[in-house]
Amino acid sequence: MSQLIGVPRETFAGEKRVATVPEVVEKLVKLGFRVMVEAGAGDAANFADDTYVAAGAQIAPDAAALWSTADIVFKARPPSADEVALMREGTTLVSFIWPAQNPDLMQKLAARKVTVLAIDALPRMLSRAQKMDALTSMAGISGYRAVIEAANAFGRFFNGQITAAGKVPPAKVFIAGAGVAGLAAIGTAANLGAIVRANDTRAEVADQVKSLGGEFVKVDYEEEGSGGGGYAKVMSEGFQKAQREMYAKQAAEADIIITTALIPGKPAPKLITADMVQSMKPGSVIVDMAGEQGGNCELTVPGEAVVRHGVTIVGYTDLVSRLAKQSSTLYATNLFRLAEELCKTKDGVINVNMEDDAIRGLTVIKDGTVTWPAPPITLPAPPPKPAAAMPAAKSGGHGHGGGGEPMSAGALAGVFGVGAALFLLVGLYAPAAFLGHFTVFVLACFVGYMVVWNVTPSLHTPLMSVTNAISSIIAIGALVQIAPPATGTSRPDEIIRWVAIVGIALTTINMFGGFAVTRRMLAMFRK
Ligand code: NAI
Repeated sequence: MSQLIGVPRETFAGEKRVATVPEVVEKLVKLGFRVMVEAGAGDAANFADDTYVAAGAQIAPDAAALWSTADIVFKARPPSADEVALMREGTTLVSFIWPAQNPDLMQKLAARKVTVLAIDALPRMLSRAQKMDALTSMAGISGYRAVIEAANAFGRFFNGQITAAGKVPPAKVFIAGAGVAGLAAIGTAANLGAIVRANDTRAEVADQVKSLGGEFVKVDYEEEGSGGGGYAKVMSEGFQKAQREMYAKQAAEADIIITTALIPGKPAPKLITADMVQSMKPGSVIVDMAGEQGGNCELTVPGEAVVRHGVTIVGYTDLVSRLAKQSSTLYATNLFRLAEELCKTKDGVINVNMEDDAIRGLTVIKDGTVTWPAPPITLPAPPPKPAAAMPAAKSGGHGHGGGGEPMSAGALAGVFGVGAALFLLVGLYAPAAFLGHFTVFVLACFVGYMVVWNVTPSLHTPLMSVTNAISSIIAIGALVQIAPPATGTSRPDEIIRWVAIVGIALTTINMFGGFAVTRRMLAMFRK
């Protein structure tokens, strides 16, 4: 008999999300499950009961009816004490749980002898887990909404304008923390036309910031900010001091600050001090997305928007609920992807397979036994980095340039000297024709290297497709051959002509296709 997935109405004050939406109910039904939704569960997210019924769900009149019949419960917020009391033995709960922050809840759930899959415990580093990654989908929505809240509280345009009524400078937005939420905020603010700057302790995000239209501002202090698993760590005193100095400068210039800095299992780092708030222009806005973890700004009041020193400080903790339809739809899809993983047999019966890394990571309680935290996953080692991409350095036999570090002037001069000597040797002894070709070859390597090396990595694919399109220049060869054969010539000329015609046809596809693909790819990066 297929299992029943129950979706209760969220009871946490101000929570507007619902854990499944009608569109996804249809997919769950196709996967073999029966679905039951509590009456009014989707109201706050604009999904009426009858749309769930039309999609194939049943409606439970109240929470008690739902919790007492469901085999699997999909929820957004961790269950309240009342909800835990309604759970029956053997139920599987899928929800945000935050086991590290909620030890009491974990004890209570374990006592009910249930199985709990905490969506926030998903091993995000597994590429297979990305489709189920609700932390990422929710963070993306929060980042977007933070910018919208900032725009709402800010008294000016984001984009610069020159009108008959005067010149408006673009708003300056500073983003502290460029994780998933910060990157979404950077993209949104840049799309609205603001000048966006961002900082993060993890240096590797600099390229991502740039590719979304922002400028990465570095702290003038050398320290690796990565604490493993793609997350940050608590930085040293020295770093924090240097960071405060840089933030003080940015705060005085910025119109809007959006803070998203978090460190797993630790209170949010305090990055914006009261003095920095005071230094901002009146009418400026701070959106502190870390409110629930204590806030990144000293003056944040979690859950509220307050005005301090003429600056609006928005500390809303319900940013995803403020886009409830969108967040419910993405969350429902994340849970559907999880349901697919749990029910590979497509017969509406789940198998919580503890041998599967992703499922093991998610399962924080199995049949009443606490199984959190999961043992760390050992990922296959990344392939070794290719050696330095400096052809001149290689031919000169030097060991410099490892890891793409720029060469010192002396080393560069040495490499050029050796190169020139080799060239002289070749020039003296090689046939004349060879020298011409060789010069073109060396110049081509040099130009190619300079072009590719200066292109942002995210643009390498469009670069390759445009190079491919340009390579269609070989069509000239075919064009030379296509002229009709002179009268009285033998068959091979006719064959060559037809080969040239086919060559030109194929090259045309390559040329136009290459340019069209490049155009479409570049369009993705354009504002
Ligand atoms: P988060 O919400 O824990 O932290 C937000 C950001 O704050 C992080 O970028 C962090 O480096 C930054 N931060 C912390 N302390 C700071 C400080 N003192 N000053 C400035 N910035 C500070 O992180 P989130 O957004 O959940 O993800 C972190 C990273 O994990 C992302 O860059 C993402 O690419 C990566 N990730 C990787 C996945 C994968 O491998 N499949 C999946 C999801 C995320």
